[in-house]
Amino acid sequence: MAASSNDFSISNTTVANQFTEEDSYPQDLRESIISLPKQKGWLTPNIYNYKGVWLGSFHLHGALRSQQHFQAQDSDIMLCTLKKSGTTWLKALLFALITRKQFLVSQEIHPLLTTNPHTLIPGMEYEYASEETPDFAMSNGRRLLSTHLPQSLLPKSVWESKCKVVYLCRNQKDTIVSFWHFMNKLRGDVQGLGDIPFPEAFDRYCRGESLYGPFWDHLLGYWKESLENPRKVLFLKYEEIKDRPHVHLKRIAAFLDCPFSEEEECGVVDGILRLCSFERLSNLEVNKTGKTVFMQAGNNLFFRKGKVGDWRNYLTDEMASRLDQIVDEKFKGTGLKL
Ligand code: A3P
Repeated sequence: MAASSNDFSISNTTVANQFTEEDSYPQDLRESIISLPKQKGWLTPNIYNYKGVWLGSFHLHGALRSQQHFQAQDSDIMLCTLKKSGTTWLKALLFALITRKQFLVSQEIHPLLTTNPHTLIPGMEYEYASEETPDFAMSNGRRLLSTHLPQSLLPKSVWESKCKVVYLCRNQKDTIVSFWHFMNKLRGDVQGLGDIPFPEAFDRYCRGESLYGPFWDHLLGYWKESLENPRKVLFLKYEEIKDRPHVHLKRIAAFLDCPFSEEEECGVVDGILRLCSFERLSNLEVNKTGKTVFMQAGNNLFFRKGKVGDWRNYLTDEMASRLDQIVDEKFKGTGLKL
């Protein structure tokens, strides 16, 4: 692939799954990565600014390889989120929804009862960071993938194909709290590092220096696409799904061209929502004691409280108004409200 001035070219070198030290970056990427603007990382020493997006070297490597190699198919579903927006929940909902003819949600045997949603639905850039040609095939024939990449860094074929994009966002006050807990847990459990104090994490998040940030560009990129092309991008909010789960699940099904039949509306919708509820998933053995595909951390990492408004236990009034101000300023005139 011809590399533009702002692009990196990648060789076929096998790259280690994780690289946390600059010295261990793959040789072909090392110079390009370390010459990017950088800031203190969350799990790794640094995060890098690539085309306006803050990424760890692992994510950046996966993003570049995805751009180079990923070929979207018309029937694909791409689930896009910022970290801690409810990805696990939506992965479960989408999986149960599109496989409902194959795996009946009313039965006591269902993949979601024994497998964590992140194992069932691969993260595109994570897979590409680990191997050059990951296999995304699913047994029901329709591929379901997820990504945290912003709209601007998605592989071109996603936009050129008829593949559907489902975006989920969440109130940023709850997202930052969830993100902070998640990062600290990973730092402690996997890296043996100490906690980041909340005021420091909050400040970095507000400056846009979170993974895949700035958050406002992430949300706005998909928001604008959803307005311009509502048949291509469905924009969802965590709080709205919590509030009216039946309505939104039916909306998602219709968007994905697999609407519920009248018959299904009686029990299947309820069955999917029950199966994917926080209470149900978080209490399954696999999610209490199993290990994630990601860094071998515990699956329980993805289930904390699952509530709206927990931010009130963490943000001072000053912090809340700082974030409100950022959101007001960045989203002004866009029609997007959180
Ligand atoms: P909290 O930390 O606020 O509890 P992600 O899946 O994008 O990593 O987001 C994780 C957040 O979603 C966590 O939020 C987690 O508890 C919540 N979550 C996980 N499963 C959920 C479910 N089935 N229903 C609602 N929220 C869920």
